[in-house]
Amino acid sequence: MRYIDEIDVSGKRLFIRVDFNVPLDEDQNITDDNRIRAALPTIEFALQKGASVILASHLGRPKGQRNPKFSMKPVARRLEELLKKDVKLAPDCIGPEVARMVAAMKPGDVIMLENLRFHKEETDNEPEFARKLAALEDVYINDAFAVCHRKNASVYAITDFVEECGAGFLIKNELHYYEKALESPRHPLGVIVGGVKISSKLGALQNLIQKVDKLFVGGAMANTFLVSQGYNVGKSLVEEDMVDTAGKLIREAEKRGVSLFLPTDVVVARRLETGAECKEVDIHNVPEEWQIVDVGPGTVEKYSDELKECATIIWNGPLGAFETSPFDRGTVGIARCLANLDSLTVVGGGDTAAALKHAGVEDKVSYISTGGGAFLKLLEGKKLPALEALENCSK
Ligand code: 3PG
Repeated sequence: MRYIDEIDVSGKRLFIRVDFNVPLDEDQNITDDNRIRAALPTIEFALQKGASVILASHLGRPKGQRNPKFSMKPVARRLEELLKKDVKLAPDCIGPEVARMVAAMKPGDVIMLENLRFHKEETDNEPEFARKLAALEDVYINDAFAVCHRKNASVYAITDFVEECGAGFLIKNELHYYEKALESPRHPLGVIVGGVKISSKLGALQNLIQKVDKLFVGGAMANTFLVSQGYNVGKSLVEEDMVDTAGKLIREAEKRGVSLFLPTDVVVARRLETGAECKEVDIHNVPEEWQIVDVGPGTVEKYSDELKECATIIWNGPLGAFETSPFDRGTVGIARCLANLDSLTVVGGGDTAAALKHAGVEDKVSYISTGGGAFLKLLEGKKLPALEALENCSK
């Protein structure tokens, strides 16, 4: 892969595809600006080199319709604060007005294009749309790791139309940590997988079982594993059609000498809401009418003891319904455990990053990936199509 610091960008018009798909509240306030901050090193590098910078991103899923709810306006304002300079918001991402604005740019100027997904051609990976985007620039830089698992025009088709291209520092960082954590990790390698569904993480689980020493399962997906082992989980969420698969995964782990850990105690509640009646029970004693909402303290202790022996840890997916207090204790316990370790700790997925923040330890792990789906694809051992396209075009 060629990176931005290997390209002469001074005096050039740089089109940087970023992923500023950040969460907003009802008043259009950004509730987590991590993805914007993570792209700053690339943007600042380009500005220091005297480039003019055109930033392009999607936000949400407006499905090809102009919709003010998905405007890049709050992002442009936030970026202005972070860069401490003017960021002009273009009225669109292509068209004559955008072309005029770009033509008038001077070195050091920054323009944020309006949401790429206001055009359905973006998600359709439409070549003509990609060609129009490419026409705006001298150099194309992709630093939008979180969308690199998508064949979208601005990260995929565009690579057929650009003269010079490369990746930014965010992508460099993501690949560096992926390589260190999963491709050539220091062992023992421990992976914590949580979240709701086995089905959405099956590919990752199947790949991870071939690479890890210890696999810790939590979240609602643990229920399906528990059912496959004959446990009663009461009214808990279970993916009935995944029970056999869960059993197979457990047998596969055994065959490969992987230690697979399931919760030994859990928090059960009458309902999944704050204030609902709840209690901690041994995994053999889940009451019929209750549901599992978190791992119990014994499980946190056991997982923590085992994690302390791991040289490398990857975490994807919360261990309980952490957004609903007090069912956040298991997830917070594991987050704090990771925060106190010297091991390489790599965390990925929007929920897991939010859980770290919730636990107040987001700056105490080695790396938090900006990717959700893209991070998961890497855990599946798959190549990201947009990165392959970029690599081919930067050769
Ligand atoms: C993400 O948030 O994972 C990326 O921005 C991709 O968004 P998408 O899932 O809407 O394509």
